[in-house]
Amino acid sequence: MASKIRHCALGVSFAVMKTILSGMAPSGELTFGHIAGALRNWVKLQSEFDSLFCVVDQHAITVRQEPAMLRKRTLDAAAMYIAAGIDPEKSTVFIQSHVPEHVQLAWVLTCMTGMGECSRMTQFKDKSDRHSDNVNVGLFTYPILMAADILVYNADLVPVGEDQKQHLELARNLAERFNHRYSDTFTVPEPYIPEVGGRIMSLQEPTKKMSKSDPNEKNSIYLVDTDEQIINKIKRAVTDSGTEIIYDEKLRPGISNLMTLYHIVNNKSFAEIEQEFKGSGGYAEFKETVAHAIAGYVRPIRERFIEIRADDAALRKILADGAEKARGRARKVLRKVYKKTGFIE
Ligand code: TRP
Repeated sequence: MASKIRHCALGVSFAVMKTILSGMAPSGELTFGHIAGALRNWVKLQSEFDSLFCVVDQHAITVRQEPAMLRKRTLDAAAMYIAAGIDPEKSTVFIQSHVPEHVQLAWVLTCMTGMGECSRMTQFKDKSDRHSDNVNVGLFTYPILMAADILVYNADLVPVGEDQKQHLELARNLAERFNHRYSDTFTVPEPYIPEVGGRIMSLQEPTKKMSKSDPNEKNSIYLVDTDEQIINKIKRAVTDSGTEIIYDEKLRPGISNLMTLYHIVNNKSFAEIEQEFKGSGGYAEFKETVAHAIAGYVRPIRERFIEIRADDAALRKILADGAEKARGRARKVLRKVYKKTGFIE
């Protein structure tokens, strides 16, 4: 169990579980990249940590969303968390917009953030290039809302991909700034970045990350894809010239990506995978094996997802309970922040 010592009044101290929080934006269909880079780690971490997992629907609207689609994808994401193995009995699973304290804290933090701190964010620069017709202020302040998501629960650790490190740095700075300006209030969170498998690349353009918002469906393995779709996509994945199965991200990004996929589902090291396919029938045979392995791994997740989605009332109940638990905690932290800021109780 990952614990920390908490000191209370009268000099009593006791060990409490450390808190983790993470979330995904429901801005597209979830892909195998979400399993590899996030969900499978969340599932492992939930037994060791006091865990909160939210669907960050308010982050999703920094890019224009069709309301019915946003609703569907928000519930899909929550169902996928559970289908992947997040246990709502162990972890708090909820939707960001159900806990208004995130946005309330975000405003206080917004007033403590410099314009320069937001304009430096590489994700803001990328996204404003890609959505140059809609560079809204929310896209700019997105990392402050993310900081609020984390700080409002005093999370110790935040499992995220490498691309979120800069956002986490802002969350840390804001926590320290608030603590320094007023008094000790927030835990300064640490990022928790997985080593291998954190980055699954696109199947057709293996130098680009596999993304839920990629317009080309052949680039991504969606968690709702059928066995046949998965197998076909992997068989048609772009590979490099050559015949040997050797891990080399630079020279063989396509094969290396498929090796990473294979590693995720069976935990074999790259050396073991190289050994397994040494002198084999080349790329075709390798792809065939990987394709079936991935399809077999995704199948039970997809089947559970379909079951969970078929019972709307049960899913909404889980999310309502999760939001209530989360709110109970967030409210306490926000109350302190408001008081220290000078708002009348
Ligand atoms: N920005 C994160 C991403 O794009 C999503 C996110 C929002 C998040 N709030 C968070 C992740 C809080 C971890 C903690 O992946």
